[in-house]
Amino acid sequence: MSIRIIGTGSYVPERVLTNQDLEKMVDTTDEWITSRTGIQERHIAGEGVFTSDLSAEAAKRALEMAGITADQLDLISVATVTPDTTFPSTACVLQRKIGAVNAACYDLVAACTGLIYSLEVAYSLLKASSGKYRYALVLGADKLSSIVDWTDRSTCILFGDGSSAVVLKNDPDDHSPDFVVASKIGANGNYTDLLKLPAGGSAMPASHATVDNRLHYIHMAGKEVFKLAVNGMADSCKYVMNVSGVRPEEIAWVIPHQANKRIISAAAQRLNLPLERVYVNIEHIGNTSAASVGICLDELNRAGKLKTGDYILTTAFGGGLTWGAMLMRWT
Ligand code: UT7
Repeated sequence: MSIRIIGTGSYVPERVLTNQDLEKMVDTTDEWITSRTGIQERHIAGEGVFTSDLSAEAAKRALEMAGITADQLDLISVATVTPDTTFPSTACVLQRKIGAVNAACYDLVAACTGLIYSLEVAYSLLKASSGKYRYALVLGADKLSSIVDWTDRSTCILFGDGSSAVVLKNDPDDHSPDFVVASKIGANGNYTDLLKLPAGGSAMPASHATVDNRLHYIHMAGKEVFKLAVNGMADSCKYVMNVSGVRPEEIAWVIPHQANKRIISAAAQRLNLPLERVYVNIEHIGNTSAASVGICLDELNRAGKLKTGDYILTTAFGGGLTWGAMLMRWT
């Protein structure tokens, strides 16, 4: 039995919001945003486009590459912090939109670490199911523009919309190694206040006061998250390299969550990983939360830059706080 990635897909909406556009919206400059984050532009979905629509685009592309139809899927796992609705799950809406009539569906919340959590859970289900689940569609998708406070210059400059999808196949007749070499996901609930959307849940249901106080938007303590992000990504990467015995110089590509170019550089430095092998697309995509790592993976894959046997190290951190790393072998 072997579990492999047989398709990837990603999508960002057409509309681009540049730093120059943001200069007209809040008290900021292109120079500040570029030098502090590395971001020059991000993509923003229109009002009638939901996370399930973003997901459907990435899903269709991944299924096409995989060469399977949606009705062959047994499982849909959507990582998101911006579901279409609290319930039903975005995975269920996506199931309808792509016609995946045979798939069990669930959403998963791990913020920007979402895709790595989603891959870990779906992979483990496939592995444990002895063939019950054969094909899984694993997504990270977020329409962050729907929860960004466009009057808060410390957060609105960071985020963009996007989606990514991976098709996993569990093949009982294939005896090649699984795509997961080693993985580590973690969390620390003591830091729940550092990055959150305060209202709209059972702790603070929506009311006139929550709307008036702008509590339905992202609230973030950027500096604190920055430090913990570097530690979370570096430590989880070290863990997967240690348990697998794979050395930094053997890794073909590192795909870090695209939150801030300075965070990426600091983590790479800690791991002795040369920046030429660290994939960065933050300039044009911004921080797309759960979609981020998968968009990078798909871009590398479609550019033909992933070779059979390559080690690919993915890592992310996000609200929760959550973090994780997955060392993959490209098959
Ligand atoms: O996926 C996980 C999501 N979270 C993150 O990735 C966040 C990680 N944190 C960061 O990326 C950085 O902390 C930020 C980019 C958010 C902020 O950068 P920083 O270097 O930590 O800046 P700061 O918050 O210390 O602010 C420095 C100054 C402040 O002014 P004063 O108090 O020194 O006068 C801010 O008010 O920069 C000011 N500032 C801005 N100035 C121009 C904050 N945002 C802006 C802005 N334009 N957009």
